Amino acid sequence: MRKPIIAGNWKMNKTLSEAKSFVEEVKNVVPSNEAVDTVVCSPAPFLGQLVEAAKGTNVAIGAQNMHFEENGAFTGEVSPVALEDLGVQYVILGHSERREMFNETNDSVNKKTLAAFKHNLTPIVCCGETLEEREAGKTKDLVADQIQKAFAGLTDEQAKQAVIAYEPIWAIGTGKSSTAQDADEVCGHIRKIVAESFNADVAAAVRIQYGGSVKPENIKEYLAEENIDGALVGGASLQPASFLGLLEAIS
Ligand code: G3H
Repeated sequence: MRKPIIAGNWKMNKTLSEAKSFVEEVKNVVPSNEAVDTVVCSPAPFLGQLVEAAKGTNVAIGAQNMHFEENGAFTGEVSPVALEDLGVQYVILGHSERREMFNETNDSVNKKTLAAFKHNLTPIVCCGETLEEREAGKTKDLVADQIQKAFAGLTDEQAKQAVIAYEPIWAIGTGKSSTAQDADEVCGHIRKIVAESFNADVAAAVRIQYGGSVKPENIKEYLAEENIDGALVGGASLQPASFLGLLEAIS
């Protein structure tokens, strides 16, 4: 019922030539976008050229962050207007690395989510707990708070279109992935929160990804779960073979 979405988050990796040759290598072999939405989220400097390289294929290009303002004195920031103009289709918002290292807050994630919709960008809104928060039994309350705040002010239609990425911070880049059952329990809770904040139709439509040490060898376990509709993948999205290996799980 919900179309899977597999998104690679390259983080701060690759040069322009490496990025372009990756897209050239995968763009004609990824599955049809009737079966899966395939997204590559690259560093900002390459976005325009990657959009051109992927034009007419089943690969969509996403940014990893943006500002919520359209323009102005924000040195070093990227405008949603510029992303829309380049033909970028997705933007990751509120990744834990941005929350931890670049002062991203629930309030700024909310402003960015609203700005994304204003500029025809699909937000991939990240949430997730630290190991300490998990051990203290705070996971569900924390992700509920992050998603309620990020989604404040969205219309039902926008909330349906948004993508949520549940990424337990302790599982990111560590090789320690959450079990599929644990991840599904949290994703199910997020869906319940979306139902309470909007309605059952929105909750049934919104796509929730799991992220955290996903690789070709374990992705099927996550996709088999009721509430998990895809994956946001860091390390295993960097090489074409491994990225295509993730997508093979769909067919
Ligand atoms: O955005 C992606 C996540 O941070 C997961 O990264 O697949 O390298 O654990 P990872």
